[in-house]
Amino acid sequence: MNFQIKTNEGYEAAYRQSIEQPEQFWDDVAKEYQWQQPWSKTLTWNFEEPNVKWFEGGKLNITENCLDRHLEKNGTKTALIWEPNDPKEPFLKFTYEELHSRVCIMANILKGMGIKKGDRVCIYLPMIPELSFAVLACARIGAIHSVVFAGFSVNAVADRIQDSGCEYCITSDGLNRGAKQIPIKSVVDEAVESCPTIKKVLVINRINWPVEMKEGRDFWYHIERTKVSDDCPAEEMDSEDPLFILYTSGSTGKPKGVVHTCAGYMVYSGYTFSNVFQYQENEVYWCTADVGWVTGHSYLIYGPLLNGATSLMFEGIPTFPDPGRFWQVIDKHRVNIFYTAPTAIRSLMAAGIDHVLAYSLHSLRVLGSVGEPINEEAWHWYHTHVGKGKCPIVDTWWQTETGGIMISALAGISELIPAHAGLPLPGIQPILVNNDGTEIIGNNVEGHLCIKFPWPSIIRTTWGDHERCRINYFSTYKNLYFTGDGARREANGMYRIIGRVDDVINVSGHRFGTAEIENAINQNKKVVESAVVGFPHPIKGQGIYAYVILLAPTDTPNHMRDEIVETVAEHIGRIAKPDKIQFVSALPKTRSGKIMRRILRKVADGELETLGDTSTLLDPLVVDEIIKGRL
Ligand code: WT7
Repeated sequence: MNFQIKTNEGYEAAYRQSIEQPEQFWDDVAKEYQWQQPWSKTLTWNFEEPNVKWFEGGKLNITENCLDRHLEKNGTKTALIWEPNDPKEPFLKFTYEELHSRVCIMANILKGMGIKKGDRVCIYLPMIPELSFAVLACARIGAIHSVVFAGFSVNAVADRIQDSGCEYCITSDGLNRGAKQIPIKSVVDEAVESCPTIKKVLVINRINWPVEMKEGRDFWYHIERTKVSDDCPAEEMDSEDPLFILYTSGSTGKPKGVVHTCAGYMVYSGYTFSNVFQYQENEVYWCTADVGWVTGHSYLIYGPLLNGATSLMFEGIPTFPDPGRFWQVIDKHRVNIFYTAPTAIRSLMAAGIDHVLAYSLHSLRVLGSVGEPINEEAWHWYHTHVGKGKCPIVDTWWQTETGGIMISALAGISELIPAHAGLPLPGIQPILVNNDGTEIIGNNVEGHLCIKFPWPSIIRTTWGDHERCRINYFSTYKNLYFTGDGARREANGMYRIIGRVDDVINVSGHRFGTAEIENAINQNKKVVESAVVGFPHPIKGQGIYAYVILLAPTDTPNHMRDEIVETVAEHIGRIAKPDKIQFVSALPKTRSGKIMRRILRKVADGELETLGDTSTLLDPLVVDEIIKGRL
């Protein structure tokens, strides 16, 4: 597509135009895509309700842009490379023609199951090619996909199915994770018991795990696919029809369903993929994120395919069969662009340099980082040992709600400073504000990061509860989208993201609300109350520290800790398990009953000298007890 910026002057010109004439700017970008009918109004917006509409009147299908339009020139080009968990199992490649055909087959199966435009489909799958087929097949027929990360528990799946009213689910018998095999159809079976909306379940056979198939409800993909054709015309979608729902955690207990719509999401994810990574014809691009998170949606599936790129999907984990696996895959498939998370870099750093030195990595041209702030040590290790000092690192700041990358360098074009996300992309107008919402002007300043003008893939609503969207993102500061992050603007205007300023913890690049984890812990019958805070963790970025009041003191604290971990695993998933659990007899509360998290955070951090004023506490003595029992 013809919107790739080539120079720093090009960036400056694009940025200027995007601010002075945003509609003109995005019109020109959007024209590069294939539309069934052009739009009549580029932008309508207000951040009060909020109400944001892009490219109104336009009709399109994102899969025609991801697949059909490449067939004539690039039909035999590889669209998807799939690398299995076990390096001994053969990898798979799908050309654009093959991917198109697989997506249409899947789409016809879904249609045969009764799925129509606007229906919600829960996709609970491991990182196998059918996950990409399923996502695109939903988009093909206008069904709204809600991908749920396959590490989430029965309760978490059930919550998400119920909240979005999914009538259909796509899953597999099980998944491979390093040396382990884990059944997951059974998770769906259990979840569906409390989800009466579910009519049908499509099951992919991945690991030959024995599963129970419920007559009339459950269908095998490998049987259904023999009954349908690979011809499936793309549904005509309005620009603002929902494309997908993706659940994410916030400062309240219940995750919310972030809604993205067809046209704006397409325009922005394709534009940012091309520009941030500077993708060149015939390069192999690898994003290690799971499709269960937004990074996998925007930069494993949609962004790359919109640009006719070759995207690699990896089923496994970085440490199996050994911590050289990522580097081995890079050499094996001659990966040119590699996009991963700081937590992965830190854990591979800890595994020792020999695993990296065993591979050449000479195919690499660009490195990327996403999900959490990257510390300077990890940045330098990544730059020196993986990039051999010659690959730019794009530190990409964005969120589930933003749909695409917001602040980042353009690879090879922008100036790089370690651990700085950099400058805003064209169309993005960040501002820093004080607690009271006044704008902080100038450079060398720090504040709450907000965005003051809409971009095409801004969150449209939270599924089923628009008011929640307004309150969460648009009510803290008038006429601004509030990100929940704190940031610094350095002397040169570059942004450095500091971290969350709300009650959200970022564990290995995954978001959890403290209230969400507390709710899970409190489900344990032996727990009276709990308070959760984040603390700095050498690998995960932030770890989870839980202070727990038990109904009765325990003689076997470690056993009790295991029990609480199990409770969290059951209610959210193993990814949210607390790293530290301290039993306390009380929590530091104000006279009005509010937990003083600041104190709990400081104790967890070990910053005992700077606890601040504790005199307003109901019972200042609890602080001494908590400090004494610190883990
Ligand atoms: C939160 C969003 C963006 C996709 C993956 C996570 C943090 C994200 C960076 C970065 C510093 C970052 C922020 C943000 N974050 N990228 N490059 N530098 N922090 O998506 O689960 O929606 O989380 O992740 O705190 O608010 P998410």
